[in-house]
Amino acid sequence: MTICYFSATGNCLYVARRIGGTLLSIPQLMRQETIEIKDDAVGVVCPVYNAEMPMMVKAFMERVNIQTGYFFFIYTYGAGFGEGYAHAKLAAQGAGLTLCYVNAIQMVDNFIPYFDMQEQIDTLPKKNVEGQIETVCADIAARKTVDIKITAITKAQMAMYHKRLAERWLRKDTALSYTVNGDCVRCGICAKVCPANNIKVTEERVKFSDHCEVCYACLHNCPQHAIHMPLEAGTTQFRNEHVTLNDIIESNR
Ligand SMILES: Cc1cc2nc3c(=O)[nH]c(=O)nc-3n(C[C@H](O)[C@H](O)[C@H](O)COP(=O)(O)O)c2cc1C
Repeated sequence: MTICYFSATGNCLYVARRIGGTLLSIPQLMRQETIEIKDDAVGVVCPVYNAEMPMMVKAFMERVNIQTGYFFFIYTYGAGFGEGYAHAKLAAQGAGLTLCYVNAIQMVDNFIPYFDMQEQIDTLPKKNVEGQIETVCADIAARKTVDIKITAITKAQMAMYHKRLAERWLRKDTALSYTVNGDCVRCGICAKVCPANNIKVTEERVKFSDHCEVCYACLHNCPQHAIHMPLEAGTTQFRNEHVTLNDIIESNR
């Protein structure tokens, strides 16, 4: 089994590890000229971003050549996944694949403009993450299949979420509004955790460019907590407790 994953704060990396098999980082795959994956089972594990999949995962699905008898998609999310299953089915179809199985695991919501990370961490036990992961692992081991219906209402909802959420929040120029405070020591970790290679660190400053994935890896993983966006609902950073800073660097650099 092969799992292709995208992870900014470790939830998806943790889930990918728990499902098992060969783990491939989508940011790293996207730097290859051609992406070909062949295995008996192939899955994507990625976060929900504004009721869709991350822009880079969408682009990955448009480029990848997957040969498998069992293709699945697992989201991690915090509050709600909108029409994420329909997005997964359409992305699979676009790649010439049948979406055999899709599921979503509710974890900490790292969307810092809306959510206080400390509150998210404190209420995490209620989400029974381990139970959700065990269900997904058992389903995949049994090669369970699901059929996602896409109706006219589904398509209308997708368009509505896209207009209200994605168009507002998933903007490639997002990081240009980020600020770096005086606690920054120019360690360069923000550049290393950025899956989009959107950050350059010189001796003088941290410079953001205009191809941000809006994953907040830089904000959440900065050891000095020096990177900020204009709207933050709390003062705590988040990284999945089973994942180290080095794991994120190794995944995204
Ligand atoms: C830009 C952005 C948008 C998000 N949108 C949603 C959303 O629409 N629904 C939701 O439940 N969680 C949303 N989240 C939260 C993530 O899906 C969730 O925290 C995920 O587990 C993070 O995975 P990671 O730790 O592997 O990066 C969003 C996070 C970001 C950064």
